[in-house]
Amino acid sequence: LAASFGNQSLAGLRVLVSAGPTYEDIDPVRFIGNRSSGRMGFAVAEAAAQAGAEVTLVAGPVSLATPAGVMRRVDVRSAAQMHAAVIGAAVHADIYIGAAAVGDYRPLEVSAVKLKKRDGDDLTLRLGENPDILASLAAQTEHPFLVGFAAETHDVADYAQGKLRRKGLDMIAANQVGGGLGFEAADNALTLYWADGAAELARAAKPELARQLIAHVAARYRATRG
Ligand code: CTP
Ligand code: CA
Repeated sequence: LAASFGNQSLAGLRVLVSAGPTYEDIDPVRFIGNRSSGRMGFAVAEAAAQAGAEVTLVAGPVSLATPAGVMRRVDVRSAAQMHAAVIGAAVHADIYIGAAAVGDYRPLEVSAVKLKKRDGDDLTLRLGENPDILASLAAQTEHPFLVGFAAETHDVADYAQGKLRRKGLDMIAANQVGGGLGFEAADNALTLYWADGAAELARAAKPELARQLIAHVAARYRATRG
């Protein structure tokens, strides 16, 4: 029962979650991607639904079934498609949790035909910067409560707190990548930061961590937005 969550309930709230990688096409058979499995984001979507929220999930290219209780799923491929899907759905969202590993750059030219190997020659790809989904939302006068993720290989706390401030987020979930944690791993460990606080979520399976994250998001949402 949603009511049993107390101030950790998301009953009556609409939660938008992005998850997975993005693929930036080079030609009809090649792309630039990343190692995100989507499992953390899908676990967050499921935990939000368990907490009573109406959940919309925007998913990059992953091979995962839609979690129980998720109302709507929008599948996208590129960062530009994810940007458009999230900006559109955010109008109807109270909370946006950006768990997706959004590609920062895309090939400026996408070949309509397969690029052919030219023996002995190097190949140079020109990449252009993709729009930042979280920053675009933060720039809107009315926007959902914003939660970001920061997966870092080093200086985790500094980079995460920098992103919290620079992107204008309400909360960020930081994790160290590597050592059997993070991308492509079953376990994760997170440190949550908000403007005037932090919480350490010890190493656990992603579904368990997702439930703890959602409890903190609900508490911070209630504290700042009623
Ligand atoms: N993010 C986003 N749009 C982008 C890139 C990232 O919304 N174009 C979001 C991610 O979903 C995540 C957060 O921003 O919630 C942090 O992503 P991250 O890649 O760690 O941060 P960047 O600002 O891209 O910095 P860098 O990759 O240089 O660490
Ligand atoms: Ca990035």
